[in-house]
Order: sequence, then C-alpha cells, then structure tokens
Amino acid sequence: MAALRTVAAVFAAAGLAGGWIEAQAQSMPQSAPPGALACGGCHPASSGGLVPPLAGMPAADISQAMLAFRTGTRPATVMDRIAKGFSEDEIKALAAWFAREKPP
Ligand code: HEC
Repeated sequence: MAALRTVAAVFAAAGLAGGWIEAQAQSMPQSAPPGALACGGCHPASSGGLVPPLAGMPAADISQAMLAFRTGTRPATVMDRIAKGFSEDEIKALAAWFAREKPP
C-alpha cells in the first residue's frame, strides 16, 4: 500500500521535525525580557556569593520580592532603586523568565 507508506513517512518526518524543534527550543533560551540582562551584572549564575542567584527561583518569590523592594516594604541596599524602574508587567515577565532559567 503505497499511500499508507506515504502517510507513515509523513508522520515520521513530522515526528523528527518535532524533535528537532524541541531540541532547538532547549538550546536557544527564549529571548530575555527588557532589563533581564542587567540583573546578571550583580546576580551570579550560582549561589555562594553575597547576591543570590535568580535562575530557578520561583516566579512568585521573584515578583513578591521585586514588588516589596519597589514599595519599600522590604529593606534593600540597591534593589529598592532597581525595582522602581520596572512596571508590574515587566516584573512578571522577568520573574517568569528567571524561574525558567536553569541554575548551572
Ligand atoms: C547593582 C547590583 C544589582 C542589580 C543590577 C540587580 N540586583 Fe537584585 N539584588 C541585589 C542585592 C545586593 C540584593 C539583596 C537585597 C539588597 O541589598 O538590595 C538583591 C536581591 C534581589 C532579589 C531578592 C532575592 C532573594 O533571595 O530574596 C531579587 C528577586 C532580585 N534581587 C531581583 C533582581 C532583578 C530581577 C534584577 C534585574 C532587573 C536585579 N535584581 C538586579 C543586587 C542587584
């Protein structure tokens, strides 16, 4: 049955393409939201330093901390000033992005 074989080939090709796209998505992280690259100037990739790493931190914790820094309810040395530069939507985008980042 030639037609059946063709169908099978199309499905196999689609399966391969799907795998390829998935591999690409994993190797190329979604582009960082505005401001995210600046965070890395102080926040390191892994823990051990004075400034905690953001990668892999739960999104809710990041948003909560940023909003508390912004309103001044959480004391900070620099984060209060940095957080004031971001809107709530931008904070949510940053939080989601850093939560998806894998700590090394
Ligand atoms: C100038 C250095 C610097 C930059 C840039 C910076 N941070 Fe921070 N961050 C700190 C420091 C220092 C702390 C500890 C609180 C403090 O003293 O302000 C902190 C704390 C935090 C915390 C709380 C972490 C925890 O464990 O509770 C979050 C969340 C955070 N920063 C997010 C960000 C994000 C998002 C950005 C980028 C928009 C950013 N920071 C940019 C220095 C920085």
